[in-house]
Amino acid sequence: MIAPVEKKDAWAYIGGLPLTRATLTDPAPMLHLKSTSSQRWLDQVHENIVEILIDHAHCEKKAAGTAMNFIFYYVEDEDLCREMSEIVNEELEHFHMVLDILRQRGEKFRRLKPSSYGSRLHQLIRKQEPERAVDRLLVAGLIEARSCERFGLLGEKLEDKELAQFFGSLFESEARHHATYVQLAKNYANEETVMQRLEELAIQEAEIIALGDEFPRVHS
Ligand SMILES: [Fe+2]
Ligand SMILES: [Fe+2]
Repeated sequence: MIAPVEKKDAWAYIGGLPLTRATLTDPAPMLHLKSTSSQRWLDQVHENIVEILIDHAHCEKKAAGTAMNFIFYYVEDEDLCREMSEIVNEELEHFHMVLDILRQRGEKFRRLKPSSYGSRLHQLIRKQEPERAVDRLLVAGLIEARSCERFGLLGEKLEDKELAQFFGSLFESEARHHATYVQLAKNYANEETVMQRLEELAIQEAEIIALGDEFPRVHS
């Protein structure tokens, strides 16, 4: 649990929880994550920053696609459609930002084999509605959470100050996306059921991310 903070000490409120410097040091509880990222992953990043940036561009593009798919699939949930259209816009903005960074560094955006993280997480989604909606939204929320946790870490640890600043600047919006997905899952099940399922999926997410990946990726 995060200790209560004075309103003046918080920069922003994400899903009712304050975002502060303390949150940045260990954002996992606010993000419902069951682990923090390993030194193994940080080492992969340090040795392969260009490949990480290219994969990051793919991740932002995929995040926009995921939000767009929700609009197509849950047409009658106006609440969801409005929130998702905001997320589509923000993720595409992030996608452009990464493309700009690649261009400034003389690197080209190109196809990359994705990490197995996303497909492993999607295998956990139950097939029947409304459980399927709950799981799809919570899996999307956990992917946002893990990205957010890792961007926060890169904001702190990268020696390249320009990149550190860039990753740090994404922390707030990805944390907000996480909170939005969790909130929307409550349109498909009661709060207790959603939070219990989130707990189960978060445990499995921590096991999946711990598996790593031979290629350096945002979620390797
Ligand atoms: Fe993003
Ligand atoms: Fe996001």
